[in-house]
Amino acid sequence: MTTSLRLGVNIDHVATVRNARGGDVPDPLRAARMAEAAGADGITAHLREDRRHISDADIDGLMRDLSVPLNLEMAATDEMQAIALRHRPHAVCLVPERREERTTEGGLEVAREENRLAHFIAPLAEAGCRVSIFIAADRPQIEAAARIGASVVELHTGAYCDAHAEGRLADRDAELERLTEMAALAEAKGLEVHAGHGLTFETVPPVAALPQVRELNIGHFLIGEAIFRGLEDAIGEMRRIMDAARA
Ligand code: PXP
Repeated sequence: MTTSLRLGVNIDHVATVRNARGGDVPDPLRAARMAEAAGADGITAHLREDRRHISDADIDGLMRDLSVPLNLEMAATDEMQAIALRHRPHAVCLVPERREERTTEGGLEVAREENRLAHFIAPLAEAGCRVSIFIAADRPQIEAAARIGASVVELHTGAYCDAHAEGRLADRDAELERLTEMAALAEAKGLEVHAGHGLTFETVPPVAALPQVRELNIGHFLIGEAIFRGLEDAIGEMRRIMDAARA
């Protein structure tokens, strides 16, 4: 029997557009409500250290108004830990963060920082947050994530999506093979498996079809597609493609 697949819609880039001008529009909270209405199972927002898109006020609003779960993406810093402990969102996803990057380029190096991260996530888990770690589909990272007591690993699909976009089909297939094997390993280690980064209508089907994957987090493509067809329609189409691949 196949298990259901949740869609988390990442609204960061609604805030990116808002911040390009300053002011209040477009409103990420309105986008979140619309995503909810269009069938999103959760909303994902990345509060970056430099606040380049999502702001603290956005997180306040999302926590106040959303009726679907919030997945708060953040770096493993003291400041972010305090914010997460204040809000206690449904989920916290730890991501690596570099100021000069345009987007989250790689996964977190859990294996290198096992001790620090184990101490970092313990109070979050105690506060009732589901702790997820965004990692490359690598065996040592998965094994380390399991050892530090994470509940979830989110596998980085960026390398697979980049290879597809650049027409490097052998690389794409190799990346998909890696995601397939590592999703199975993560589940065998007792971790819930999520995936995301760079997914589009074209790249989502084989990832959605992986039986261990329980949630996909998708943002940039959906917000871009919304310019042409509207957000509800873009999300509805993604949902349809995911469900078809799952079936
Ligand atoms: N998952 C994580 C952990 C991310 O950092 C991001 C990007 O912010 C996404 C999913 C969504 O990626 P994209 O915006 O490329 O769909």
